[in-house]
Amino acid sequence: MRILSVVGARPQLVKLSPIAHALAAAGHEHVIVHTGQHYDAALSDVFFTDLGIPRPDVNLHVGSGSHAEQTGAMLPGLERAMLEHAPDWVLVYGDTNSTIAGTLAAVKIHQRVAHLEAGLRSFNRRMPEEHNRVMTDHAADLLLAPTDVAVAHLRNEGLGARTVLVGDVMTDVLYLTRDRNLAAGTAAPVPADVGASGYLVATIHRAENTDDPARLRAIVDALAGLSVPVLLLAHPRLRASAERAGITLEAGAIRVLDPTPYPALVALVQGSAGVVTDSGGLQKEAFLLRVPCTTLRHETEWVETVDLGWNVLDGDLTDVAAHALRPTPAPTGAAPYGDGHAAARVVAALAGGLGA
Ligand code: UD1
Repeated sequence: MRILSVVGARPQLVKLSPIAHALAAAGHEHVIVHTGQHYDAALSDVFFTDLGIPRPDVNLHVGSGSHAEQTGAMLPGLERAMLEHAPDWVLVYGDTNSTIAGTLAAVKIHQRVAHLEAGLRSFNRRMPEEHNRVMTDHAADLLLAPTDVAVAHLRNEGLGARTVLVGDVMTDVLYLTRDRNLAAGTAAPVPADVGASGYLVATIHRAENTDDPARLRAIVDALAGLSVPVLLLAHPRLRASAERAGITLEAGAIRVLDPTPYPALVALVQGSAGVVTDSGGLQKEAFLLRVPCTTLRHETEWVETVDLGWNVLDGDLTDVAAHALRPTPAPTGAAPYGDGHAAARVVAALAGGLGA
């Protein structure tokens, strides 16, 4: 079997790692196409090195642009790569512009598409990601759902017959990285003058939080006013928006750091007193590492983290300090994101071994 993976943005490289390893272990051919949506070394190259992913076979180098420019620029190169490699499946990941472009290019030339992380919904139609994932689910041939909630969403939309529950491949890579960190003695890259515990980790990059200067200022003020150091891992989109709006990120409790490689991120979160974020991945990573999370959005796709008490949504920024510094909730053995072996089930589903 030959699989062609379309990736482009940071979280997709994390998900690509367990898939690449599982495909190789099962002796399948794997062609990796990187759209170049993310091009900074800190958002791309370092993930290939740290997570042992083979170098992309094709890199389209599309870079940044408006949604239309970025998505449109990807289509011809994706189509060419798909025609050249004639895969059994095109595999698309998550909810980015690279995902919808990969899907569109494939279905128009009658190549079968499998969507990893299918069925997630925020029901917020202002999010570009929501449109990307809804359209991808409806166009794809095989929907690889990470959770029971995702399966239910797909059934509600009439897509149950194409759906397989596989678990979440981010659990696979998180557990592996946590164990490798432990074995290698990887320390969290906490600045020398910040204590090894008692700090928070923060990330902000969603358009809804970065693109409105008043909202971005309110978020920065809330983080700056906290009583413990806040390690803000600054995504390029955040830095660019803050600079445009004349907002200084390094203020009060905030310590601005560059985005970290994945093993360092896991070590940082594991050692932290809490996470404040708008990232989807980080909400889950915090839960899996049993660190309280505060999400600066009005809704989340990962509702299990909220239902189980490990994640609080504060989209209105009503009391970020009280939420961010709340005590750790009671322990739970719940495993809504699978057992760390989702990638093997993905490969089995692609090979036809798990009925859709
Ligand atoms: C994208 C995804 C989002 C995902 C996120 C992870 C879409 C619509 N959004 O958001 O779902 O959670 O990736 O990071 O696909 N930039 C750089 N260097 C880079 C990449 C981006 O400087 O390597 C800057 C550019 O100014 C660019 C901006 O960041 O315009 C936004 O990048 P873009 O790829 O549009 O979206 P993300 O915010 O990264």
